Amino acid sequence: MGVLLSLYLAHLALSPGGIGLNLGAGLTGATVGLLRLTFAGDRLGRRRGRGIVYEFSQALPGLAPLRKMGLLFTPQENDMEHVLPPLPYPKNALAPHMSEETFEYHYGKHHQAYVTNLNNLIKGTEFEHKTLEEIVKTAPAGGIFNNAAQVWNHTFFWHSMKPGGGGQPSGALLAAINQRWGSYDEFKKAFQASAVGNFGSGWTWLVKKPDGSVDIVNTSNAGTPLTTADKPLLTVDVWEHAYYIDYRNLRPKFVETFLEHLVNWSFAEANYAG
Ligand SMILES: [Fe+2]
Repeated sequence: MGVLLSLYLAHLALSPGGIGLNLGAGLTGATVGLLRLTFAGDRLGRRRGRGIVYEFSQALPGLAPLRKMGLLFTPQENDMEHVLPPLPYPKNALAPHMSEETFEYHYGKHHQAYVTNLNNLIKGTEFEHKTLEEIVKTAPAGGIFNNAAQVWNHTFFWHSMKPGGGGQPSGALLAAINQRWGSYDEFKKAFQASAVGNFGSGWTWLVKKPDGSVDIVNTSNAGTPLTTADKPLLTVDVWEHAYYIDYRNLRPKFVETFLEHLVNWSFAEANYAG
């Protein structure tokens, strides 16, 4: 799976955490790729792309000055820093159900803090060059896991909502929900009860089990289905910081609003199908 020989002809990052374009020719294992597109800082927390990425199996000595100027990076160097992924909608797009002020704190400060903490904690460790998902799946309990999982969980949460959300799922996901709970209304009651009853800080998830059935799972603190056999389909953050600005202590009202006005069923359907 490692890159044996690769020449990245151009790497253009439009903005930190924004869209990156990476054109290149590469030989990766047995696979020869002629065009590679990457989206730096994309929706599930890829990393920053910047400068020109140019790599042979050994760095060419003549390129050292450019490297010193910060214009050349190997893919690994380019991958060292995690960034706050962009929101899939403007900060005010979910108002009045979730205010811009909530996003300024929850996304701009809490989510950003997890990214910053993660970058600081992984320096010089075996996790430094791992992807976010690899870190979540392999880090032991502690700071690196907590911050990596919180980065991933929050990004997943932003995508679990959309402007004009709510309604019902359709297709195979609706069929699976009906099979598990009998009806969508019964699912909503079960999800609401689970989220409201999730003691302390945590997350409530709709997941796909390995047998294709669906279920509701609560996790605590930074816990995430990524470390289990379940596939997350959507989530709601029930840490107090998720709702305190807009709903104060009223978690039931927040969860009800999430289901009525915010939940992004097309995201969950795509995850269920994928
Ligand atoms: Fe949160």
